[in-house]
Amino acid sequence: MTKILCIGAGYVGGPTMAMIAKKNTNVQVTVVDINQQRIDAWNSDNLPIYEPGLDEVVNEARGRNLFFSTDVEKGIAEADIIFVSVNTPTKTFGHGAGCAADLQYWEKCARQILEVATSDKIVVEKSTLPVRTAAAMERILNSGRNGAHFDVLSNPEFLAEGTAIADLDNPDRILIGGHSTPEGKKAVQALVDVYAAWVPQEKIITTNLWSSELSKLTANAFLAQRVSSINSISALCEATEADVGEVAYAIGTDSRIGPKFLKASVGFGGSCFKKDILNLVYLCESYGLHEVAEYWRQVVKMNEYQERRFVDRMLKEMFNTIAGKRIALFGFAFKADTGDTRESPAILITRELLEENAEVVITDPQALKHAEQDLADVIDRVVFEPDPYKAAEGAHAVALLTEWKEYKELDYQKIFDRMAQPAFLFDGRNHLDHQELFGIGYNVYSIGKAPLKHI
Ligand code: NAD
Ligand code: UDX
Repeated sequence: MTKILCIGAGYVGGPTMAMIAKKNTNVQVTVVDINQQRIDAWNSDNLPIYEPGLDEVVNEARGRNLFFSTDVEKGIAEADIIFVSVNTPTKTFGHGAGCAADLQYWEKCARQILEVATSDKIVVEKSTLPVRTAAAMERILNSGRNGAHFDVLSNPEFLAEGTAIADLDNPDRILIGGHSTPEGKKAVQALVDVYAAWVPQEKIITTNLWSSELSKLTANAFLAQRVSSINSISALCEATEADVGEVAYAIGTDSRIGPKFLKASVGFGGSCFKKDILNLVYLCESYGLHEVAEYWRQVVKMNEYQERRFVDRMLKEMFNTIAGKRIALFGFAFKADTGDTRESPAILITRELLEENAEVVITDPQALKHAEQDLADVIDRVVFEPDPYKAAEGAHAVALLTEWKEYKELDYQKIFDRMAQPAFLFDGRNHLDHQELFGIGYNVYSIGKAPLKHI
């Protein structure tokens, strides 16, 4: 029986390995992590991440051929294929701080694999890494003296949070990068076989290692660029009474442009986009490609502009003062259907509102625990309220920051009746029925559309 190990039981390692185990009943999959609490949660009925459909997949495979453990060494010793899916955050110190990827967790894994392994292994980069990291990994792994041989592959993950299970079940493609040497090809084939259990062969793309590594950064840069592009146009729409939804539809029907990822918003969040673009920027800089670096940096700058613009507009429209005013934030997660708040625009928006001495009340169906951690330093100044009706009680404004389905279904008349007047509603996702809200009496501001004002 083939044994697969995954180091890192996070948003990627957990769901990805659960799907591999579900689809390959003849393969034993173990996911290890140094975080005992996380592993305990994976072994419980209360999984550490909220992801639609994840419970079913885990319940089917766990205990059969899917195991979660903190015994990293045992896992390494027994495995044939080792996925490394640890975090690769932006470096906060030293050379490249604020831009380069922090590779210490990856390197620690490589050294631990080298220390413990006594048999040949295929080591798979699942984490998102700078292009040519595999070369460094190969040098570390093949520096041992115990005769074990290591083949390094790149197999970046393209799942998006909130739709992880659907994305894993029916991926647009699986990308595997490896060397074209006989051993390299054999290793690539071993990984192709794992995915071929459910992914059609034509969707499994094999490339050289560096193309695979770079494709991941490029895919995220392109996706984020689309969001920043439409958000930049949303600012122009607000100035000209063009409607960004209409513009997005009109351009998206051009088959060369396509309709996806053109939803204007309060800004993109999530653990990947900003980090991966900055990683790309740093790489370009380090190869002396300053113009290329500057081009991509602009995508992140535009996103920051969009987040700040949202707060500036709130302030301006609410008579240039929000001091002492209660503002209810509907949603804190960086997108719907996840409890994840990493890089959520809501974090900056909350802090900017507090700077203006507003009273901030935050509600979210899944993300309040993480919101409390993100705002730990200002926790005394923020109220966390699971019930949106209570959150809006006495509020001067509601600002919708996450497009949760349940926010469409609220009774906005009831909310309006409990708010301070005049009542303001800022829809950071263009998620609600603005005409209906205006009819109730709200002053409605959305992204990239003319406001609907009573006053
Ligand atoms: P995460 O922070 O949720 O999980 C990483 C886990 O690795 C943590 O639980 C941590 O404790 C563990 N870990 C770190 N060092 C370890 C070690 N030496 N031994 C054992 N465990 C260790 O991160 P994530 O969101 O799952 O992302 C992982 C990687 O996948 C990143 O490189 C990220 O860029 C990439 N990625 C993430 C997403 C996403 O949607 N979150 C999508 C595609 C790719
Ligand atoms: C992203 C990539 O999509 C995924 O392929 C990669 O593996 C990890 O990074 P994720 O960050 O989980 O996934 O979610 P995604 O759906 O890409 O959304 C990212 C951010 O962009 C969210 O804040 C979302 O609200 C925002 N967004 C997305 C928009 O504002 N408008 C859009 O049209 C699309």
